Amino acid sequence: MNLIPPLTGFSTNHHEWFVEDISLTDIAKEFNTPTYVYSLEALTTAFMAYDKACFRKDGSRRANIHFAMKSNSNLAILDIFNRLGAGFDLVSAGELARVMQIGVNPKKCVFSGVGKSKSEIEYALTLGLKCFNVESIPELYRINQIAGQLGLTANISLRVNPDIDAKTHPYISTGLKDNKFGIAYEDVIPTYMIAQQMPHCKIKGVDCHIGSQITDTQPYIDALNRILGLITELQDLGITFEHLDIGGGLGIVYADESPPHITEFANTLLDHIEAKGFGHLEVIFEPGRSLVGNAGILLTEIEYLKPGETKNFCIVNAAMNDLMRPSMYEAYHAIVAVKSKENLPVRNYDVVGPVCESGDWLGRDRDLAVEPGDLLAILSAGAYGASMSSNYNSRGRAAEVIVNKAQAHLVRERESIADLFSKEHIIKPASNP
Ligand code: LLP
Repeated sequence: MNLIPPLTGFSTNHHEWFVEDISLTDIAKEFNTPTYVYSLEALTTAFMAYDKACFRKDGSRRANIHFAMKSNSNLAILDIFNRLGAGFDLVSAGELARVMQIGVNPKKCVFSGVGKSKSEIEYALTLGLKCFNVESIPELYRINQIAGQLGLTANISLRVNPDIDAKTHPYISTGLKDNKFGIAYEDVIPTYMIAQQMPHCKIKGVDCHIGSQITDTQPYIDALNRILGLITELQDLGITFEHLDIGGGLGIVYADESPPHITEFANTLLDHIEAKGFGHLEVIFEPGRSLVGNAGILLTEIEYLKPGETKNFCIVNAAMNDLMRPSMYEAYHAIVAVKSKENLPVRNYDVVGPVCESGDWLGRDRDLAVEPGDLLAILSAGAYGASMSSNYNSRGRAAEVIVNKAQAHLVRERESIADLFSKEHIIKPASNP
């Protein structure tokens, strides 16, 4: 099986694969491998597909896009979305520092995450973010207390756990009762009542996120209906809202999934909210994967072909430390030979990396006509690829390149061997034991 998703920015003329106007062979020559390669056109097209739905017929804005930067936090990518008008959904001081580094307006940032530390809350309060998406009652108390100490007011929304089954991989499903995320549905109204009494918190919105790689609109409509019901009850209790954050999670095509088109998906949800009488609320989308997933590939080179009795292995120079999704979720990523070689026999391979784990595989049962030294492109790797990469087996992280037509820009240098242990120290033996 080697199903190839429809791609913007990447193409093949049946002999060779290109990113925009440059062949991936030329990218490998210039930047070496493994390298993440992104298409600017693909990033922009995905963003514009959301943006198109964000306006009412009279031209006024009804929704905003806050890029879930955990999916890809490279500064150049953040900068591209910032210039296109995005806000950001972030989950740590590190992510906040990244957007500050490129001059993002803090008022365009929402802070999600179940374990915000005291120092992270202080940092965010001092900058004056748009909103904290509060994930538990103790967190609400902590935010109120720190805001009081700093003499500031915290803008908050509660992340509602709507107890909806998004029918996605259990590791990336977040809106079920037994997930660690959000405030239990039945506790939401009492918690808003507590928040309303807090001297240093200002209620701004309602928030929700039900999972990731969701390829059907219905779980969103179900979650929305539950949340709109809560908003009505809360309004009757005198609590009003400025925004409704419906999270991220729209899936992409990795193989043969059939998610709705981004604009159609966003319009369906926004029209539903308006039809239910909540058109006055600013709606926030927090997409990650659907903005970057199919805008990036991982370019790698074949080191060895290793035939076996039951399996043939194609050993490449990228590994689970570069792209963790297959080993972590058994995720499928299409894998293509950058140059097709009709003279070679097609063989079935497991494409694996050099890391010392049997779980270090990038693709299983792939039919490829390849030889050592050939390049492979692992597709749909723009989301949760580089951002989840690690140094396991003391491997430096891959380079990252963004291509704009015929120009390739290095946006992250390959980590050097010296980078790997530059922060480590050996213990000097005591001179007089
Ligand atoms: N908002 C919140 C609060 C989230 O937790 C997430 C993702 C998003 C937005 C963005 O969701 P997206 O549009 O990307 O589906 N590492 C996994 C995915 C983890 C998603 C975690 N939350 C993977 O590689 O599939």
